[in-house]
Amino acid sequence: MPGLSAAVISADPDFTETLRASLGEAGHDLSIEMSITQPYTEIDDSHLERLREGRPDVTFLDLEEEPHVGLKFAQFIIDSGFSGALIALGSTESPELILSAMQAGVTEFVGKPIAPESLDAAIDRVLRKSGRQATRVATQPGRLFMIFSAKGGTGSTTTAVNLATEMHRLTRKRTLLVDLDLELGESALVMGVQPRFSLVDLVRNFHRVDSRLLASYIERHETGVEILSAPYQPADYEAVSADRIKQVLQFLKQHYDYIVVDSPKTFTPAAMGAFEEADELYLLTTADIPSLRNLTRCIQLVRSFGRRRGDEWMRVIVNRFESNSVVTTGEIEKTLGVDVYWTLRNDYRAVMASINSGRPAVSDPKSAFAKDVRALASKLTDTQLESDRGGLLGGLFGRNGRRETVEQ
Ligand SMILES: Nc1ncnc2c1ncn2[C@@H]1O[C@H](COP(=O)(O)OP(=O)(O)OP(=O)(O)O)[C@@H](O)[C@H]1O
Ligand SMILES: [Mg+2]
Repeated sequence: MPGLSAAVISADPDFTETLRASLGEAGHDLSIEMSITQPYTEIDDSHLERLREGRPDVTFLDLEEEPHVGLKFAQFIIDSGFSGALIALGSTESPELILSAMQAGVTEFVGKPIAPESLDAAIDRVLRKSGRQATRVATQPGRLFMIFSAKGGTGSTTTAVNLATEMHRLTRKRTLLVDLDLELGESALVMGVQPRFSLVDLVRNFHRVDSRLLASYIERHETGVEILSAPYQPADYEAVSADRIKQVLQFLKQHYDYIVVDSPKTFTPAAMGAFEEADELYLLTTADIPSLRNLTRCIQLVRSFGRRRGDEWMRVIVNRFESNSVVTTGEIEKTLGVDVYWTLRNDYRAVMASINSGRPAVSDPKSAFAKDVRALASKLTDTQLESDRGGLLGGLFGRNGRRETVEQ
């Protein structure tokens, strides 16, 4: 599917490049195909003709100089039947200017200097309104990361929510959190959003789903992560077949770069479908006997889903990790017959504060849990962290993220 085309109008010859750089950071599939480098007072018929012929999906109007003339121009082209979206960029110091921009019919107003997050959010709103959201399609299918644990309360929702948040923050790529726990999934709750629709609505209407309908089932969190939540009231999960979930996940992979699935603890048809679609499976356990025992009982079956995908497919994460725990990482590896890939430290204070505030725990970047999740997200998305990875993880893991032979 082609991306969106954009035009830029600014008197500043450097503005188009600045905008291009910010667009690149925001990760949108939007290319600037035309720039008109003129003050608004000097725009003539030939410029207008180019704009009409180019039919850009989005036009950026720089309101740095003579903002009110710029807004008159906006009003003029809207009145002449211009159908694309208009995004004005100007000083946020004058609320009056923002108001006039909206009155002139501008679709979005973004403050200067441009913050990529604000630009990102404005473009998303424009795309959402026009039903074009899904044109921001990855050139290759997205990657699906499934988080599974075999015992209630191990932390799969906490891990899925925070991992998705960090993946998006580090890459600005389109990231979707899917709550597959159709009975009482809590991902949306942990993110502090109140979804209107759920995965079950998408499944029911899948025969007629397109980008616009998909967008209506999805909530966007303020962090930029999108959420396909579980239904508020427990759903009859038997009614959602494995085959249908596979189709839905394949469809979602066409629209997102990263999909993080919070799996139910039982082998529901939906979970079975997701195992087959998972590009990477993360088995979460805590360092205690009941959690390990349950995971040991499941591991044969789980492994069978990844037959064709080799050993790298299935990885173990120890959550609520304490360096002095009675059950050591070595013992976990021996019991499961799989190396421990990552540890997420026990951080009661940060995780509780997150639950109470309805914000992901990674919002407090200094917490031990946030640091471990960030390092994991950086590894999984192949992105460099701003800070060097030091501390506990730096000591425990080799460059490829695997545990080295350090015993705790
Ligand atoms: N690393 C951690 N440090 C401290 N507390 C944690 C950590 N991870 C999870 N918790 C806490 O453990 C509890 C269970 O977490 P969570 O709801 O994520 O688990 P779950 O596996 O999704 O559970 P459920 O069985 O309800 O789906 C929550 O109270 C959460 O705050
Ligand atoms: Mg959960």
